[in-house]
Amino acid sequence: MTTPRSSRLPEPDADELAHSERLLQHLRETIAAHGPMPFSQYMERCLYAPGLGYYSAGKTKFGEAGDFVTAPELGELFARCVVHAVQPVLALLGSEVDFLELGGGSGAFAEAALLALAENSVLPRRYLILEPSADLRERQRERLTAALPAGVMTRVAWLDRPPEENWRGILFANEVIDALPTTRFMIRNSEVYEEYVALDGEARLVRVDRPADALVAGAVRHVERDLGRTFEDGYRSEILPQLPYWMQAIAGSLEAGLMLFIDYGYVRREFYLPERQDGTLMAHYRHRAHNDPLHLPGLNDLTASVDFTALAEAGNSAGFGVATYLPQAHFLIAAGLQDIFEHAYEQAADDAARHRLAQQVKKLTLPDQMGERFQAMLLARGLPALPLPAELLAADQGGRL
Ligand SMILES: C[S@@+](CC[C@H](N)C(=O)[O-])C[C@H]1O[C@@H](n2cnc3c(N)ncnc32)[C@H](O)[C@@H]1O
Repeated sequence: MTTPRSSRLPEPDADELAHSERLLQHLRETIAAHGPMPFSQYMERCLYAPGLGYYSAGKTKFGEAGDFVTAPELGELFARCVVHAVQPVLALLGSEVDFLELGGGSGAFAEAALLALAENSVLPRRYLILEPSADLRERQRERLTAALPAGVMTRVAWLDRPPEENWRGILFANEVIDALPTTRFMIRNSEVYEEYVALDGEARLVRVDRPADALVAGAVRHVERDLGRTFEDGYRSEILPQLPYWMQAIAGSLEAGLMLFIDYGYVRREFYLPERQDGTLMAHYRHRAHNDPLHLPGLNDLTASVDFTALAEAGNSAGFGVATYLPQAHFLIAAGLQDIFEHAYEQAADDAARHRLAQQVKKLTLPDQMGERFQAMLLARGLPALPLPAELLAADQGGRL
């Protein structure tokens, strides 16, 4: 097991402690009634239990005052680059085209993207946001209503589930796959075990390993076959056995268009490095990363890196081909970051604004910031041509998958 570094974390206040205690009580009751829960179910409860989970209760989460900063929170350059990359596809698909954003967070991406789409005269028929958290949906609605002209706002709608009718357009998700509840597995005596969360004699949460079911064991063996090596005893990591089903659910009805996923992660052989003995799971609490997912449930964001080879496989099995795959810095540069930055710099009101823009570029692109840790993957289906900026196709590293 990992060594908690929780003693160095900031102390929660009384309200936060009471909140975490309520979720803890819910977890204890569930485990007492049904037995130990798979880690993926624990993570799902911690993030999304109605009114209690990290994303479903009213904590700040995003930005300087929250627990982490995402690329859209830094400013508008990121969204403008995404719009620049996908707008030829919007233009190609004509007037009946939709933009579907998964997991809209604070609404920062939707705001900047919609303003850029309007400026470039490529507004989609509808801008749909699929957001499981009722709390975040409300915050997105407030933000967008205040920031967007009424004519743009009328195109925005929220979905409870993926579209059932066939549609055409762009599906976009930044830092969503890393928030999908992940399965943790480990190898013992050459057999696959799954990590569960149980209670000890004093009703404290503890992690235990149990023999994996056929779905989890099959997914782990598939990865081993693909890597051409078996995991050694004691090796522990994450896997998303449900990813192909999830992909089918969110993208099954996208008959023509593009999906763009941006997230932190690796190709499979870098994800499952022999020396990465304890996986990629991280908890974030007020800008501190730590590795104890049982610490203060409900107050921490829990995430795992993305196996982009698995994402490509899931996309392929849903009928999509990888159009391009590359680190975020290369993606943004190929999507016109230089020109977009220069334009914003010229328009900036003062030195402080110009400084913020320069900082944004650094955070988005420097290798030790988001530039190399984050990857972008574009998947396409049903397009007669692939009208992406030539630089994006030229910078493709899909051969590494
Ligand atoms: C780390 S936040 C990223 C938010 C935003 N995209 C950004 O970049 O700032 C994860 C988001 O994904 C949402 N989410 C989690 N699971 C999801 C799912 N299955 N479908 C759609 N959104 C999901 C969360 O509620 C949250 O809005």
